[in-house]
Amino acid sequence: MNSWAELKSSCMDCHKCPLADTRTNVVFGVGNENAEVMFIGEGPGQQEDLKGEPFVGRSGQLLDKLMATVDLYRDKNIYIANIVKCRPPQNRDPLPEEQEACAGWLDAQIKMMNPKIVVCVGRIAAQRYISKDFKVTKEHGVFYEIDGRLFMGTYHPASLLRNPRQKPDAFEDFIALRDKINEICERTY
Ligand code: URA
Repeated sequence: MNSWAELKSSCMDCHKCPLADTRTNVVFGVGNENAEVMFIGEGPGQQEDLKGEPFVGRSGQLLDKLMATVDLYRDKNIYIANIVKCRPPQNRDPLPEEQEACAGWLDAQIKMMNPKIVVCVGRIAAQRYISKDFKVTKEHGVFYEIDGRLFMGTYHPASLLRNPRQKPDAFEDFIALRDKINEICERTY
């Protein structure tokens, strides 16, 4: 795959797993593909499936608010994608085989974008990219260098909506992210 447009158009036709049969839209990702910071969520929910864009429901609105507190915006200086591009029925966790079938798309997005920092939003993303037994409550906000890039896991906004007491910890993660961006990112942040 040579270009982002080519990658996107192949992904939009994907039928590598049964989630393709029940989706309304493939949710490829959104944002600035030249950004140095990428956010990775779990998979589309109902609103995302309908709109074809990640994190547009209640969780997404909270994520946007947290990002805005540290001057990060999906239409400006970050990119957001998910581990799986199609909605799992009833918003269940994506199955390991669905994640496996979809992994090539996100891996290709990461390779092409080459972000300096990847923020794993929630357990599913952190367990796939940081470590398979990642515990968000214990390891959130910690930066891990993996293959020359920094990865950090933080709370999923759906978890913050269920447990508002976690919000101060999540806010601290975003402050740590801002500090790290100021330290290592060069483009317009
Ligand atoms: N939750 C996610 O992990 N991703 C989305 O796009 C929406 C909700």
